[in-house]
Amino acid sequence: MSTFLASVLCAILYSSLVTAIPVGGLSSVSTSLSQTAATSTSSNPSLPSPTVPYASDDPNYWLWNDTTTIDPQPERGTLGASILGPQNEQIDKQNPDILAPPTTDSGTVGNAKWPFSLSKIQLNTGGWVRQQNIQQMPIATAMAGVNMRLESGAIRELHWHQTAEWAYVLEGSTQITSVDQDGRNYVATVQKGDLWYFPPGIPHSLQATNDNPNGTEFLLIFPDGSFNDDDTLLLTDWLAHTPKEVIAKNFQDDITDWDDIPGSQLYIFPGVPPPDNQQPPTSPEGTVPQPFSYEFSKVVPTQYSGGTAKIADSTVFNVSTQIAVAEITVEPGAMREIHWHPTENEWGFFLEGTARVTIFAGTGIAQTFDYQPGDISYVPTAYGHYVENTGNTTLRFLEIFNSNRFEDVSLAQWLALTPPTLVQQHLQISNSTIAGFNKTKGVVVGPRKSSS
Ligand SMILES: *[C@@H]1O[C@H](CO)[C@@H](O)[C@H](O)[C@H]1NC(C)=O
Ligand SMILES: *[C@@H]1O[C@H](CO)[C@@H](O)[C@H](O)[C@H]1NC(C)=O
Ligand SMILES: *[C@@H]1O[C@H](CO)[C@@H](O)[C@H](O)[C@H]1NC(C)=O
Ligand SMILES: *[C@@H]1O[C@H](CO)[C@@H](O)[C@H](O)[C@H]1NC(C)=O
Ligand SMILES: *[C@@H]1O[C@H](CO)[C@@H](O)[C@H](O)[C@H]1NC(C)=O
Ligand SMILES: *[C@@H]1O[C@H](CO)[C@@H](O)[C@H](O)[C@H]1NC(C)=O
Repeated sequence: MSTFLASVLCAILYSSLVTAIPVGGLSSVSTSLSQTAATSTSSNPSLPSPTVPYASDDPNYWLWNDTTTIDPQPERGTLGASILGPQNEQIDKQNPDILAPPTTDSGTVGNAKWPFSLSKIQLNTGGWVRQQNIQQMPIATAMAGVNMRLESGAIRELHWHQTAEWAYVLEGSTQITSVDQDGRNYVATVQKGDLWYFPPGIPHSLQATNDNPNGTEFLLIFPDGSFNDDDTLLLTDWLAHTPKEVIAKNFQDDITDWDDIPGSQLYIFPGVPPPDNQQPPTSPEGTVPQPFSYEFSKVVPTQYSGGTAKIADSTVFNVSTQIAVAEITVEPGAMREIHWHPTENEWGFFLEGTARVTIFAGTGIAQTFDYQPGDISYVPTAYGHYVENTGNTTLRFLEIFNSNRFEDVSLAQWLALTPPTLVQQHLQISNSTIAGFNKTKGVVVGPRKSSS
């Protein structure tokens, strides 16, 4: 008899026993079942009776991917039927787990996927900008994202805002400038894969160098889901809305010195590429005590069985007290292990490769999403999830948190460090399976271990 059939029969037997047991009678029946099981030759340990049916044995793989040429349809096994009406096949091809969800999905967690491709882009002379906030993704209450491109020399003008600003450089290099509340200044050229951070309200500017003739592109994160990049406070906008008499009095100048200031904001505009080694004017107060940039690209990632991870939070990038990041790679066939973040929301950004993620929200609610490069994901605080590579190339993505620390709880580590008999009574798995659980976080786990 196959293990599966045996399990089914046991389940039927156990459930009929459970049904027949009066309240309070369960423990004695469990004991007698345990005794029976303990004398059997099965490698399965003694177990109490299940109180619910077994979970389905369907592996619930994603049903198609970029390399499959099939016509995507809302069909999984005997469930579903083809679409007869109009179909946006390009979108359906990218979202196998939305069109034909795993049978383990139930209910909805809200939309946890937003491709920057669907964000309205604002075109300027010198670059462009597009954003995602709670307007696009109502679930993403704790953080908002902006994707900005500046041509060589182009400037995102001197400005400030109520929220902190964190950035990851996607291409080229970006020169940043800032002056803090005590008159301490800062200038740095931030390279591809490196970070910057400005505390709330601190003025700054961003400018593309000519290190790459294309200029630069970066991802900005703000720890507020309703942040809107159109609502920042800009130097030119302010002065265009200040009486010139006041401007001249403030700077103790002649009013004619201010004849040519812009009559409206510049926001993004062309400029002369700055030298990489540009120094700020010497400040009598010195430079900021904690650097506003961090060479994340130079951090050597930790290798795991299925990929790599590296982290930058305020323990290493001290000024970054409101944003933490993990940059993860996942090899084909591997996955970022099942885990959650105890007190932090996660704003995810996919850089390379394709992935699927199931978000578990409790109360039986779970929903699976598929991601491509340029897509944003969002996982609310404490919701369980994994990130599986669904392609044949390396998957690389950022996990970004509204926190001063990176923290996660690993399902495998949790179960490895809990008394095994307790785990067994929940999951009815063998002693050897439990013994194989890794007491150290797997982080990114490779394909199945060879059987021992
Ligand atoms: C499994 O482990 C428990 C103790 O945790 C032990 O009592 C039991 O005999 C073991 N079963 C097998 C099949 O090794
Ligand atoms: C793509 O999906 C097909 C099944 O539709 C599967 O056989 C193949 O292994 C998948 N390729 C990758 C790279 O996941
Ligand atoms: C990997 O995927 C690409 C296209 O997505 C395909 O051309 C290539 O054949 C695939 N390689 C393997 C080994 O499956
Ligand atoms: C500049 O961008 C174009 C695409 O817009 C790309 O083909 C080219 O390789 C880029 N150059 C560099 C130096 O990255
Ligand atoms: C950052 O903080 C750590 C302590 O958490 C300290 O050891 C380190 O010197 C600080 N680095 C900088 C650049 O201030
Ligand atoms: C457990 O995971 C760590 C990585 O976190 C890895 O170095 C180690 O080899 C793993 N141990 C086993 C037994 O798989």
